[in-house]
Amino acid sequence: MTQRCKFAAGNWKMFGTSADLSHVDAIAQAARDLAGIVTVLCLPATLLSRAADSGLALGGQDCHTASQGAHTGDTAATMLADAGASYVIVGHSERRSDHGEKDADIAAKAQAAWAAGLTAIICIGETRKDYEAGRTLDVLRTQISGSVPQGATPQNTVIAYEPVWAIGTGLTPTSEEIQTTHAEVRDMLASHTGDGADLSVLYGGSVKAANAAEIFALPDVDGGLVGGASLKAADFIPIMKALAAS
Ligand code: 13P
Repeated sequence: MTQRCKFAAGNWKMFGTSADLSHVDAIAQAARDLAGIVTVLCLPATLLSRAADSGLALGGQDCHTASQGAHTGDTAATMLADAGASYVIVGHSERRSDHGEKDADIAAKAQAAWAAGLTAIICIGETRKDYEAGRTLDVLRTQISGSVPQGATPQNTVIAYEPVWAIGTGLTPTSEEIQTTHAEVRDMLASHTGDGADLSVLYGGSVKAANAAEIFALPDVDGGLVGGASLKAADFIPIMKALAAS
């Protein structure tokens, strides 16, 4: 029996101050009324403890590989958990490009997340150059084998497939491409690790209310990791509803 869940996950990136907590509360309220989906907001670390009372599942956006130490400016998974997170994104393409994170770093971060009791949302995705060269599946296979540690289970790991060229651009692959890629990713996960076939695989990259229903209807898509359209309750709630209806 599959253990896949439907996730409406928001990634606020480096947006949001205390003035935006009203959106967290509105999203939490909507989440209470929607059955069958898990709603998670991955907030800036500065907002996590402020949002902890919302009742919503919260996530961080990155963590260090160590549980503590002399690492100025970094945040340990244990600290995210202490602040109220139960998830953390690792290996987002913006971390891979802005901070030079490699697959081995991301695997170590996922293990640090697990050790802190967090579910790791591990991101994979090809660049435009790779996409145009027809290398998408090769890139994803390499990223999965390098950044998804053995021991990944549906309880401790969620995969987010985010084509880099679709993030924040308004562009998306076609529905057929998304479905084909997700099915391939699921096969790769199954051959990579024991419980791989049962992991939830989210699509991310320019998800919005207008395209959510079509994307979420695809059989191998288990929800979305949403950036810009998760910042405002009025944008994100219709996406949550599309997922609940899928
Ligand atoms: P957008 O939804 O803004 O394209 O961002 C996607 C993303 O990077 C989520 O992690």
